[in-house]
Amino acid sequence: MTRPHLLMFLGITLLLWPGSGRAADPSGYGQPGGEFDIRIPRVPAAERAAAKAQKPSFSATSEILAEGKAIFLGRGTCFQCHGPEGRGDGGAAKVLPIQPRNFTNPQFKKLRTPGEMMWVLKNGSLGQSGKVPGTGMLPIVGQFLSEEDGWKVLLYELSLGGPQ
Ligand code: HEC
Repeated sequence: MTRPHLLMFLGITLLLWPGSGRAADPSGYGQPGGEFDIRIPRVPAAERAAAKAQKPSFSATSEILAEGKAIFLGRGTCFQCHGPEGRGDGGAAKVLPIQPRNFTNPQFKKLRTPGEMMWVLKNGSLGQSGKVPGTGMLPIVGQFLSEEDGWKVLLYELSLGGPQ
């Protein structure tokens, strides 16, 4: 197994391991049918301003979006959970108790800044705010993607579902 695949496998195993993690998670864990409430910020309050201030140093040109798409469908492994079109319906989503983000939902782009998304790419969505349970979204930037690659794939995700 390559490193990204191994990380994903470990993450899912940990999530599904009987009793593991769940006891410590706030209520709402594993609620059926979809994404956990997207109106709740994933970044803890104390870190939110700094997270929002993070911005890519380049804009979403067609070249950058093509690179982001290649990462999304390739070594980033994003498609495995988020689906080939970013609708949150990848093969691995079936075994996740909380569903991956649907990047084609226009509501999501209104609720989240790119900087908060980068924070999740660096830290994962592991219940840090105390308001959302831990999820299968593990840290990726700093693990097997550089920050530059992270911005490329985020700009691609933000381009899904039409113009903002
Ligand atoms: C193992 C499955 C899995 C993989 C692989 C994965 N994600 Fe996720 N992702 C999730 C889940 C589950 C959520 C929902 C987390 C939540 O509700 O807090 C999520 C949420 C997100 C969010 C939204 C966070 C927020 O603020 O609401 C972003 C952005 C994101 N993923 C980006 C990516 C990118 C980019 C990649 C590839 C580099 C990727 N993900 C790979 C499972 C995955």
